Amino acid sequence: MMRTHHCGALTREQAGQVVTLMGWVHGRRDHGGILFVDLRDRYGITQLVFDVEKDAALHEQANTLRNEFVIAAQGVVRIRPEESVNPLLSTGEIEIEVTSLDILNPAKTTPFLIEDHVQATEALRLKYRYLDLRRPKMQRLLRLRHEVVYHIRRLLHGQGFLEIETPILTKSTPEGARDYLVPSRVNPGEFFALPQSPQLFKQILMVGGVDRYFQIARCFRDEDLRLDRQPEFTQIDLEMSFVQPNDIMGLVENILRTVCRDVAGIELANPFPRFTYRQALSRYGTDKPDRRFGLELHDLTPMARHVTFKVFRDAVEAGGIVMGLNVKGGAAIARSQIDRLIEVAKGFGAKGLAWVKIAEGWTLESAIAKYLDPDLLRRTWPEAEPGDLLLFVADGPSVVYEVLGRLRLHLGEELQLIKKDRWEPLWITDFPLLEYDPTEQRYVALHHPFTAPYPEDIPLLDTNPAGVRAQAYDLVINGFELGGGSIRIHQRETQQKVFDLLGMTKEAAREQFGFLLEALEYGAPPHGGIALGLDRLVMLLGGAESIRDVIPFPKTQKAQCLMTEAPSPVSREQLKELHIRLDLD
Ligand code: AMO
Ligand code: AMP
Repeated sequence: MMRTHHCGALTREQAGQVVTLMGWVHGRRDHGGILFVDLRDRYGITQLVFDVEKDAALHEQANTLRNEFVIAAQGVVRIRPEESVNPLLSTGEIEIEVTSLDILNPAKTTPFLIEDHVQATEALRLKYRYLDLRRPKMQRLLRLRHEVVYHIRRLLHGQGFLEIETPILTKSTPEGARDYLVPSRVNPGEFFALPQSPQLFKQILMVGGVDRYFQIARCFRDEDLRLDRQPEFTQIDLEMSFVQPNDIMGLVENILRTVCRDVAGIELANPFPRFTYRQALSRYGTDKPDRRFGLELHDLTPMARHVTFKVFRDAVEAGGIVMGLNVKGGAAIARSQIDRLIEVAKGFGAKGLAWVKIAEGWTLESAIAKYLDPDLLRRTWPEAEPGDLLLFVADGPSVVYEVLGRLRLHLGEELQLIKKDRWEPLWITDFPLLEYDPTEQRYVALHHPFTAPYPEDIPLLDTNPAGVRAQAYDLVINGFELGGGSIRIHQRETQQKVFDLLGMTKEAAREQFGFLLEALEYGAPPHGGIALGLDRLVMLLGGAESIRDVIPFPKTQKAQCLMTEAPSPVSREQLKELHIRLDLD
């Protein structure tokens, strides 16, 4: 028996035809002498009917069917009586009067039901991923991911990009995480690193004259996992020669707008708004702002100099800042709830959270009311009005941004301020090239060490490295960092200088990146690129809660695959062959 149709295909058009369907038993309903079986495959569900009056033996055979049995059924398509039509199914107008049935494979009772509103824990779903993947929601997400990749390939091909693979067994590429290492059997004591990204190879491809490269690239990073992070993930990675940041940002915007429209019917702004890193921090406290709601930060540092409140003045005198959030109508919020907010802020790293309720007639209700002058506050914060709750944090800038940025998101969720149906893409530009790391006592690259500074800032590399701006850009959608890229350094001296600033000795630079430094001396064209997180993009487009839902076989928070039980111990022989001795103290 071969199938003639899939389970989502038949309509009243085929009434009277003899058909064969194959799939999984999704459910059954026993109406006395008549047994209805829902047959499911990737495409849909078709109702099969077994009537004891017509064929008692067949009806008895059908009675042995259980959920998730794989069967083949032959029968005649017939139009359902008016009252049994199911408008929710594409096949809802018909059913199959079965004439013969084959059980291709029985199934044990599954640990959870194959349906969208699954009750099972994620751990159970991941252990039985093949059952989880049968759920219509997961099928939809797999398909969405395929569609996104398909459209991106098509669009980039249309723009003259070549898809080129780069090695998986390679040398470490610094993207800020730990490397996954692979021992080399034939080179005792030596290791490959799995790529954190194809960064160096795509730059080398530009030196190789490729001009426009892309890859749907697997990347591997040993880092702490979160909802939007996996140890193994996929980038839409691209690189172009002879370009300015605007060329790359414009191209990526166009591609994303088209993909979001064609795949998910979502219209994105044209153009995407742009914020400098400084603007983003001072308005949203973060370099990945969620602009689906307001509640922007307000700077009160100038006012803080003139108040008697010690906490504010001390912070400002120590070089810190005072910033606030205005919760509109928040004066109605109960004291107990404000106390909880204070705890939340402390959890984010605040020493405290000062608050003021503005009552009618601009009287201030607050433990610190006596230190504040309502007129001064009113002038410094024109948007504040009676009925509002003002929240303040005083500290060093990084703490203030961190706390208020996260408190803003917390309040956005808690007070349901986030317009969940909105799409707010944006670019962040003008990142600092370097950041001083006090624990390591050296500069670290904010993106990666190959990012080019603005040409006019290059002299600052010698005098004020922290003031150098990078020709880098991040793409943010709804508070998620979707992508990041930059124009790269294409001259050896500048690259060497940046390595120096990062505290890398000449020998270390040569050992790790000698091939790049050398390539830069053989006519490297100016170039730049970007990488977008494919998993995050599909997660957003599919409305999934975590990137684990859009990765067919993801890993847990502990970087384990519950289905295959990887990672797992290996035999002594294997270790010996690799010249590895374990020391598990
Ligand atoms: P970056 O490190 O910013 O840049 O990575 C680019 C994008 O990849 C996604 N991403 C991740 N997604 C899931 N799990 C992870 N662990 C993870 N880490 C990163 C994010 C991120 O924005 N070589 C540079 C790009 C370039 O300069 O061209 C790079 O890898 O969406
Ligand atoms: P204290 O002087 O610690 O009793 O704090 C007085 C008030 O200021 C309390 O409401 C604290 O929550 C608040 N507060 C303390 N430290 C800070 C800070 N760094 N920023 C904002 N408010 C603070």
